[in-house]
Amino acid sequence: MRAEALAALLTLLGACARPPTVTATPWSWSLPVGWPAPVVPDDDPMTVEKVALGRLLFFDQRLSQNQTTACATCHDPARAYTDGRTTALGSTGQLHRRNTQSLANVAYASSLTWANGQQTVLAHQALVPLLGDTPVELGWQGHQTELFARLSDDEAYARRFGAVFGTEGVTLDTLTRALAAFERTLISGTSPWDRFVAGDLSALSDAAKRGHELFTSDAVGCSHCHAGFAFTDAVVAVGVQAVQAFHNTGLYDVDGHGAYPEGDQGELEITNHAIDMGCFKAPGLRNLRFTAPYLHDGSAATLAELIDTYSAGGRVFQHLGHPSLLQSPLVRPLGLDAGQKADLLAFLDALNDEDFVAAQTSP
Ligand code: HEC
Ligand code: HEC
Repeated sequence: MRAEALAALLTLLGACARPPTVTATPWSWSLPVGWPAPVVPDDDPMTVEKVALGRLLFFDQRLSQNQTTACATCHDPARAYTDGRTTALGSTGQLHRRNTQSLANVAYASSLTWANGQQTVLAHQALVPLLGDTPVELGWQGHQTELFARLSDDEAYARRFGAVFGTEGVTLDTLTRALAAFERTLISGTSPWDRFVAGDLSALSDAAKRGHELFTSDAVGCSHCHAGFAFTDAVVAVGVQAVQAFHNTGLYDVDGHGAYPEGDQGELEITNHAIDMGCFKAPGLRNLRFTAPYLHDGSAATLAELIDTYSAGGRVFQHLGHPSLLQSPLVRPLGLDAGQKADLLAFLDALNDEDFVAAQTSP
């Protein structure tokens, strides 16, 4: 009798502990014509369910310890995944030193953040806002068990984590893999420029067409760094060799030898090579209408101002009349006239993808 009761209990426990049924509907990309597929880790495939879980997490303020801030607070879809601030503001009120990057086409980024050649995996990057304490962003350093409990105690999350990750449950690993899967889906390729490339010759104004000529010309040469379909040379994709690139565009020279301000010296901080002083990743240039202010420190308020700076040969040239020792030779006085500047602005305006910005406003 006791043995039977025990057996019954064990069956019951077994039933309770039965692993959740994993549902893995393969993700199918809908990419703009001619774009290569993003690279996805072999051991972490994209699935419809994983993306949906990542989307929930991305928009959930409970992902910050004090429940005030989500990834989407800083990466707001209505601003093409930026925040409109000069530099970002963390959940506890600490200022970030840098401007929030757009996440448009981040699936193709060969390195993540403004200047870190070692940060190449989306799931790993998500640990920075979650756990970082200089500055605090989401505030989980030292409170990770509270994070796991908060999500596991929520029945809907528990069910979804079970359905995506089986018995792995809520961990930093599963959480960040789900976030990464969602982030990879943020493909922006339906701007007027993209329609033009796909064959709709009426999608660009004459001014924008002239602007594109300038953008890609040897004389102006923006496309050396803002290259290809992603408008950046720091790209990786299926069949496209990863290229990491960082450039000094002559914004600062605080010591006469090309130094950037102490608090942010770009890729130099990672490599310790003098040549990397002031070198940052070239941002993809889509959706700039929604992402002001610009540059790694948010120090350019408008695109017109930035075009003036490029035309002058960089801020350093603009102010000192000569280039910094370390700035890229591609950034040099261009002597653009008012018409050419307007044409470049018209081309940049054709890179605004209103469908992308309108599409993803909530979980
Ligand atoms: C407090 C505002 C803030 C929050 C919250 C935040 N981010 Fe960011 N994000 C930034 C800033 C600022 C940068 C640039 C960081 C740098 O260069 O050091 C950035 C950069 C990134 C990048 C690199 C993009 C690229 O093109 O290289 C990714 C990816 C990213 N964040 C994802 C996330 C995810 C996922 C979350 C939520 C877990 C999140 N962020 C939460 C402000 C924020
Ligand atoms: C030598 C490479 C290089 C060249 C040439 C270049 N850029 Fe850039 N661009 C960059 C880098 C790197 C940044 C970020 C710099 C920083 O924040 O310190 C940037 C930033 C920008 C931004 C700000 C985007 C944002 O999201 O903050 C715009 C707009 C821009 N460039 C447009 C242009 C135009 C137009 C031209 C041609 C006149 C041009 N660039 C030429 C490398 C380059």
